[in-house]
Amino acid sequence: MKYTRLIILVLIPLVFISCNRNKNNPGFDYMGSHDMYYTKFYKAYSDNPYLNDSMTNQLPAEGAIARGKMPFPYPGATIADRAVNQAKAGRELNYPMAADAQSLERGKEHYRIFCSSCHGDQGEGDGHLHTSGLFPAKPTSLVEAYVQGKPDGEIYYVITMGSVAGLMGPHGSQILPEDRWAIINYVRELAK
Ligand code: HEC
Repeated sequence: MKYTRLIILVLIPLVFISCNRNKNNPGFDYMGSHDMYYTKFYKAYSDNPYLNDSMTNQLPAEGAIARGKMPFPYPGATIADRAVNQAKAGRELNYPMAADAQSLERGKEHYRIFCSSCHGDQGEGDGHLHTSGLFPAKPTSLVEAYVQGKPDGEIYYVITMGSVAGLMGPHGSQILPEDRWAIINYVRELAK
């Protein structure tokens, strides 16, 4: 009890002293001048004296692949490009996605959305866009030996970039890579 008044007398002024009008100044704090408390940082686009090329914002490491982006080094802007690259993709691309129930279900869903209007529900090339006369080019049967004999990578290429002659358009911007492989699994299943 003897010291209570004394303690209050000391504490109250301390509380007021610790308030500071300047909001940008943290005031006194324990170990406050330590680098770990107040990191010195460089803004993304500022020069950086610690790096050899002086750039704070570093380029991604060579060969880095952005999340969710699948590299596809097979151009297909012209007929000549597509003729060369469809075969090349057939030799080089292979995505071992097991044709399990989940993949087939996913493939079926995307096939129905993106392919069956031309190629038909059973893949026989008799989709209503063609049979109704709206789309004059004959869609290839996907279940006969001509397509079934192609490696997965070639079919993947056709979905991504369209057919060589360009009668079937590219679907690369509409269908995710995993869904393209799932469609291929489904097309193989349809042929059984
Ligand atoms: C707008 C109609 C249309 C749609 C939609 C379409 N196709 Fe085609 N497809 C065609 C036509 C037409 C051909 C024949 C093209 C040719 O011979 O140049 C063809 C050809 C193909 C071929 C054979 C290519 C070759 O090398 O001869 C494959 C494989 C194929 N399509 C798969 C698909 C798949 C898978 C989908 C769905 C993602 C799809 N197509 C969507 C019209 C379509």
